Amino acid sequence: SQRKQIDEILASFKLSKENLREVKTKMRAELEYGLKKETQPNATVKMLPTYVCGTPDGTEKGKFLSLDLGGTNFRVLLVKIRSGRRKSVRMYNKIFAIPLEIMQGTGEELFDHIVQCIADFLEYMGIKGARLPLGFTFSFPCRQASIDKEFDLDIVAVVNDTVGTMMTCGYEDPNCEIGLIAGTGSNVCYMEDMKNIEVVEGNEGKMCINTEWGGFGDNGCIDNIRTKYDKEVDEGSLNPGKQRYEKMTSGMYLGEIVRQILIDLTKHGLLFRGQISETLRTRGIFETKFLSQIESDRLALLQVRRILQQLGLDSTCDDSIIVKEVCGAVSRRAAQLCGAGLAAVVEKKRENRGVEHLKITVGVDGTLYKLHPHFSRILREMVKELAPQCDVTFMLSEDGSGKGAALITAVAKRLHSIGE
Ligand code: BG6
Repeated sequence: SQRKQIDEILASFKLSKENLREVKTKMRAELEYGLKKETQPNATVKMLPTYVCGTPDGTEKGKFLSLDLGGTNFRVLLVKIRSGRRKSVRMYNKIFAIPLEIMQGTGEELFDHIVQCIADFLEYMGIKGARLPLGFTFSFPCRQASIDKEFDLDIVAVVNDTVGTMMTCGYEDPNCEIGLIAGTGSNVCYMEDMKNIEVVEGNEGKMCINTEWGGFGDNGCIDNIRTKYDKEVDEGSLNPGKQRYEKMTSGMYLGEIVRQILIDLTKHGLLFRGQISETLRTRGIFETKFLSQIESDRLALLQVRRILQQLGLDSTCDDSIIVKEVCGAVSRRAAQLCGAGLAAVVEKKRENRGVEHLKITVGVDGTLYKLHPHFSRILREMVKELAPQCDVTFMLSEDGSGKGAALITAVAKRLHSIGE
């Protein structure tokens, strides 16, 4: 009956077809709320306009700068794009550290430092004083008034990483009109018809919408499928009550859900001889890469034990089996939920086009999608099942925040004939 207790816990992570269909339907409704003037102020899925009005068509050309502000490092890139039959993208980059005191300082100090890094890079590249169009990638939410507001530079595109991902793949495949990040965070962008975007003037053409779908569920609409472990993770997080969907689907939190379950199992004497170690009490020990390793089918259980050992968790053979099952339940649910959300987006695209069948490409990036042994397959299966009228191709993106940012700037330049 120990087995029964474990099964009961794992069962709370199993979603029925009905649950998943409901997630898709609710996500679809939230996408609409975020686009409408009346409902937008209270929408949980923010649907931020990006002012990116097209994907690459191969005629883009020129030299561009990209800035990629990620975690502790800051990258400056020079991107040379050639058009025509020999179209190509060449990149040169330099990484700069951002000292802690600047990272924690004022915005002004940070921007001064960034400007210094750009000057340094231009000199390093032998193009000191050049004024090049520039794209700046942030991978956190940022509401924009236009593509280039707030910077005292010639042309600047402020870029979200989902959009960079879509554009990188869009350069190879004109059918790519969706960008998905399934990594540390979870987010999606897609090309929406202007006429459906009430919060932006104009009805012609398309604009990319950064959905910020991680906030899905913040109004309680998916609370029926959240477990007590999800609630514990949420309550112990830096932003309780916020980003509920992201907390069930992204690498930043999956390990935490696993940890909460393991603590509970240990409390019930079902794991680790009932001993809750200091390690198990430590936040953030199960990084995505460990989950990926533990779930790898090529790994013998002995190796799973070795990984746990490395983490400072003494396990028996039975323990390692249970830990692997727990990881599997949590990551499978994450992939299914992400797939259900994506199914809502592709279905919306299909209805926008007014076609019976839609062929579309999704550009994807993120360690969960790229490194986890099962996540991507389950996600794809889910989309196929919940959006059977859509034929979705998944294309891996490389360096969306560097290459993608340059392409966004290049497309903006092509569309508005701005720059150089
Ligand atoms: C990178 C992209 O490859 O993947 C970034 O260039 C993106 O723009 C990142 O933010 C997401 O992956 P992860 O797993 O590091 O969050």
